[in-house]
Amino acid sequence: MTIPRPAAVIVLAAGEGTRMRSATPKVLHTVGGRSMVGHALAAARGLDPARVVVVVRHERERVAAHVRELDPDALLADQDAIPGTGRAVQVAMTALDAAAQADVAGAHDGPGVIGSATDALTTGAIVVMAGDVPLLDSGTLEQLLTAHHEDGNAVTVLTAVLADATGYGRVLREPGTGDVLGIVEHKDATDEQRAVTEINTSIYVFDAAVLRGALGRLGRDNAQGEVYLTDVLAIARADGGHVRALATDDPWSVEGVNDRAQLAVLGAELNRRIVDDWMRAGVTVVDPATTWVDVDVELERDVTLLPGTQLHGATVVREGATVGPDTTLTDVEVGPGATVVRTHGSLAVIGAGASVGPFAYLRPGTELGEKGKIGTFVETKNAQIGTGSKVPHLSYVGDATIGEHTNIGAASVTVNYDGVNKHRTVIGSHARTGADNMFVAPVTIGDGAYTGAGTVVRRDVPAGALGVSAGSQRNIEGWVERSRAGTPAADAARRARPVGEDDGLSPQARAERERAAVAAGKAPRTPPPDLPDQPARFVDDATAADARTDRPATGPTDEDATR
Ligand code: UD1
Ligand code: CA
Repeated sequence: MTIPRPAAVIVLAAGEGTRMRSATPKVLHTVGGRSMVGHALAAARGLDPARVVVVVRHERERVAAHVRELDPDALLADQDAIPGTGRAVQVAMTALDAAAQADVAGAHDGPGVIGSATDALTTGAIVVMAGDVPLLDSGTLEQLLTAHHEDGNAVTVLTAVLADATGYGRVLREPGTGDVLGIVEHKDATDEQRAVTEINTSIYVFDAAVLRGALGRLGRDNAQGEVYLTDVLAIARADGGHVRALATDDPWSVEGVNDRAQLAVLGAELNRRIVDDWMRAGVTVVDPATTWVDVDVELERDVTLLPGTQLHGATVVREGATVGPDTTLTDVEVGPGATVVRTHGSLAVIGAGASVGPFAYLRPGTELGEKGKIGTFVETKNAQIGTGSKVPHLSYVGDATIGEHTNIGAASVTVNYDGVNKHRTVIGSHARTGADNMFVAPVTIGDGAYTGAGTVVRRDVPAGALGVSAGSQRNIEGWVERSRAGTPAADAARRARPVGEDDGLSPQARAERERAAVAAGKAPRTPPPDLPDQPARFVDDATAADARTDRPATGPTDEDATR
């Protein structure tokens, strides 16, 4: 039997969820990367109903905005100050009727038919469910709908048998037939009724006309002073309808979240199911307990997930790729055969056969080409790195375009921010930039260009050119022994000097060095020589300045190189 599509699904989400103790409304808390009301909407849409309506009240604006974003076609019904699940369904029916009226008015291109007898929702099945049951799926709802139609019921309620039924509404059945006599809330139940372990899950299918008729007759004469939806069942039976219950064999799928401990327990169970499904679909998961996969993640055959991997949002991992260990990816696409090791990434695309990590940070807008590499301690952002290009070590690449088969030397930085604006670095194909380069953007390096180690690239480097900014190196002989006398480095320098070899110092400099050693408490191995008569003779001015100020020589400047 093919089951007819339901006329409507009503999602109850007006409650406060006090026990969450949260500034965030309960139904907006997430499980498996999706809000609880998002799970409810997904399950509802799986039935292909003509209408979905969400009842809101607590934090109305936040919940409504979220629902509109997820499902623009869903109706919103505002519950008023009258409390209870029965009241929630009453306002939902009013919203459905209003939508039906609008439809009729639209179809006749005018308001003339509003209020006619055809504008109310009076036929078909209406599914009611709570918005805080994250493991409920369309399959379970379909079973309930099927039972409802096959048995020709007025009401079909989904139930569960629990070891501890405290707090729940109890399902009272007629001995013999097993038909449902009614549901009694825990607070209204006698001791005998409380001994019943079959509970109401708050998931139902109602015949629309039966529901409409019963809703008008609900009172508030109960322990909580609420309008109980559960009272509809006894009314429907009294009217001669069949009221039956379907007991689920999967209590997880109907369990609601009331506090954060339940949120974690249900989140872990949902994850266990998701990971289990992926393993059955051909994904190797080395440690399911430490592997977290959101509901909307997509994995292909022969993907391997190593321990400590978390895949969030719309992440996709293509065939044969390996992710982990200890990797968190949100909205990342991993190409076929790629490896991603100890990486934190979001909104990035990793090409086929590419390699990332260990210890990489991929920020939004990173696109790594086929067989490319983003290596160890590398951060990337808004960067296109072409086929076969590599950023292997200790670098930052942001606001950059790198061509194909280019290698970026270790410890390089695209200096993208001038304090006010961001600028781009463009590096061509088959370029080889030296270690420790600073690319002061905006700057362009042409195809096949090289740069020397330590280059500060402030001007464009044409294709095929070698860009260098560091001048030639000067060695100031004997500087350490002179200016760092008494240190282990100076001792090592002295030991490294062959015995008897001239230390290249003037007699006066040598005498100063020995005096400094004595002053530092290190007795010289040779007696101090007499001070010479002649004035000091320095190798050059810089040496003299260094000796005088006892400071390290500063590096040569660009001007030196052109001298
Ligand atoms: C309800 C059932 C109870 C069942 C239990 C399962 C009634 C009277 N009782 O209990 O038999 O065992 O669910 O969890 O229906 N809601 C509204 N508006 C309201 C009140 C609640 O939209 O005025 C929504 C809540 O947001 C929630 C759902 O209805 O999504 C259930 O509400 P909750 O307070 O958790 O359940 P109870 O009424 O205690
Ligand atoms: Ca509840």
